[in-house]
Amino acid sequence: MSSALSVVDSPPARYAEQPHPASPYLELSVPTAVRRLRALAEALPGTAIHYAVKANPQPELLAALHAAGGRFDVASPAEVTAALAAGAAPEDLVYSNPVKRRADVAFAAAHGVRLFVVDSPEETVKVAAAAPDAAVLCRLVTSGAGSDWPLSRKYGCSTDEAIRILVAAAALGLEPAGVSFHVGSQQRDPEAWAAPVAAAARVFAALRAEGLQPWLLDLGGGFPARLAEEEGDDDCPPLAAYGAAIDRHLQHSFGADRPQTLVEPGRAVVAEAGVLHSRVLATLTRGGVRWVFLDAGVFTGLVETLDEAIRYPIRTSRDGGPIGPCVLAGPTCDSADVLYEQVMVRLPLDLAEGDWVHLDSAGAYTSCYSTVGFNGFPPLPTLLRD
Ligand SMILES: Cc1ncc(COP(=O)(O)O)c(C=O)c1O
Repeated sequence: MSSALSVVDSPPARYAEQPHPASPYLELSVPTAVRRLRALAEALPGTAIHYAVKANPQPELLAALHAAGGRFDVASPAEVTAALAAGAAPEDLVYSNPVKRRADVAFAAAHGVRLFVVDSPEETVKVAAAAPDAAVLCRLVTSGAGSDWPLSRKYGCSTDEAIRILVAAAALGLEPAGVSFHVGSQQRDPEAWAAPVAAAARVFAALRAEGLQPWLLDLGGGFPARLAEEEGDDDCPPLAAYGAAIDRHLQHSFGADRPQTLVEPGRAVVAEAGVLHSRVLATLTRGGVRWVFLDAGVFTGLVETLDEAIRYPIRTSRDGGPIGPCVLAGPTCDSADVLYEQVMVRLPLDLAEGDWVHLDSAGAYTSCYSTVGFNGFPPLPTLLRD
């Protein structure tokens, strides 16, 4: 085990106390994540912010987000335990994974979690059996259009199905609390919330016609992080534009009957708090194309480069000189371990073995996506920066 890896084990060291760390590693600024949580809360007044633990479950991060008023979105017993250890009350958790192990539902319920997401009749029956007094949100399908990392092919049902599921939930003794959806991660279009908010309003109206009283709308995650390389480059609108659009969609679809709302942001809170530092293994030319190999890749945290979906802003220790296109690849022997090839990256032409390559906005879905040791490379360590 490398010395940097032991940093992730106990106790996590502070960045400033580290000798020059081995690479690759994730440098995480918890205060930056707290600022982003506050920026989201400001953009979405009156909406509860449940940080999606899956984006980065670093314990110090969870504790700081809880202290700043954040609640949590959890998807497994380990995430329930982590959120509770951070100080959250069980009623501040939404268990958002729509398909769960029965024992995991029972575990969460035994720890006081009450709010679960479902998207099928089968799962509703399961939750009713494993957590008899629970409240449920039914997840609606969305297109995912406009997002860099769409999510909804796997989860979500139609409005008609949601109505049937929530009516059935009530008959099973569950509380039909309302509706959830996710518009896809790194969603570039604030208007993406319009259709699912309208669909949710149709479900609420149908349930009320059945004599039920849904009260909660989970607007999901999807809020973006800054991925532009330079100020002024094409990037997503500011968080305030998302808040304003959502407010307008809620007004349009629910009018005065607006339900309580929550969001489950992961990326928007923690991505900009992280920089993934890696070093160049080699630069070489194949068939006239320059390839740069890094010591970090798809299996050491950069899973979201698959299909080149998430494009991290890149800086190097040689910035300033002439630049040119290259394919960027990771260190393992798997041919899937190529980060950017279809759209090549432009890096300094004199980049050489041992130089640093820094990937910005990398605090989300990196350290927790790292394999346990594919090709013998250890998981991506995290160093905390004050
Ligand atoms: C159910 C659910 N909620 C919230 C999130 C967080 O999404 P984001 O990081 O785009 O904010 C995810 C991401 O996978 C999710 O699956």
